[in-house]
Amino acid sequence: MPTIQPVKKAIIPVAGLGTRMLPATKAIPKELLPVTDKPVIQHVVEEAIAAGINEIILVTRSGKEAIENHFDAHFELETQLERKGKDIVLTSIKNIIPPHVQVISLRQPEALGLGHAILCARRVIGDHPFAVMLPDVLVMPSSAPGQLNDFSNMVKRWDETGHGQIMVEAVPDEEIHQYGIADIGAETLGVGQTAPLSAMVEKPKREEAPSNLAVVGRYVLPAQVMQLLKETKPGAGGEIQLTDALDELLKTDSLDAYRMASITHDCGNKLGYLKANIAMGLEHPELATGLKSYIKGLAQID
Ligand code: G1P
Repeated sequence: MPTIQPVKKAIIPVAGLGTRMLPATKAIPKELLPVTDKPVIQHVVEEAIAAGINEIILVTRSGKEAIENHFDAHFELETQLERKGKDIVLTSIKNIIPPHVQVISLRQPEALGLGHAILCARRVIGDHPFAVMLPDVLVMPSSAPGQLNDFSNMVKRWDETGHGQIMVEAVPDEEIHQYGIADIGAETLGVGQTAPLSAMVEKPKREEAPSNLAVVGRYVLPAQVMQLLKETKPGAGGEIQLTDALDELLKTDSLDAYRMASITHDCGNKLGYLKANIAMGLEHPELATGLKSYIKGLAQID
């Protein structure tokens, strides 16, 4: 068996306009809206770093420079905080990106779909395996002590098997048409388990879908995907779809569906974003107690 290269690069596509979150996102990238005290994208970057990623590749567009600034040093702010002795907050902004991690950004010149956004990073990926992390999706960290997060588990399974890993989650039938859907044949899939994929289909009609297992925004993929993306024609919605390239890859390579054990929140829509703030707030060391008693108080009113 050829040696399996470790996954060290993660592509985070951030070129979307965030129209589902307007008016909040008229001037602010949706990825910078805070969930508790950090922008949503910082949670995703921390999830990547926890899994051993050391190169974050942002695929971005004009008008979203604030995302790059968030991950850059801020000399004036740091000097002020240092002068005022605000050490804790200074450490929190200095440590957003640890020294061993690099953030690279490049542009997607036209909004031609997720597959096209990923393809824009092909020169940075070269012949390395890579992760794709969709920043709207916030994966709740595992609260069980010593337990790996789902994304770390996927990276570990890549290391063990060399099979690409696609995170999936069961969704209600009426939501199937919004997602890429996994076909795992007659297999059943328990949480935290993997099963070989036989096909993938982007946004099928409910009656044509092979299962209710939706692709939820975390992928670990071999480098060959880039070559396939170059040849992928526009699919669902007239866009170049990552799902279509992965379905093509399945003709020659193995991919596994990984069923997540945690919970996700879609921060790209208003209700999902509110829920994410409450769920993360209830886990936050400084905010949990106050938030819990506030929610209890509200519950008593009804
Ligand atoms: C994208 C993918 C889709 C996936 C979804 C998860 O779709 O194309 O396969 O299920 O993200 O959020 P989008 O939401 O960008 O339309």
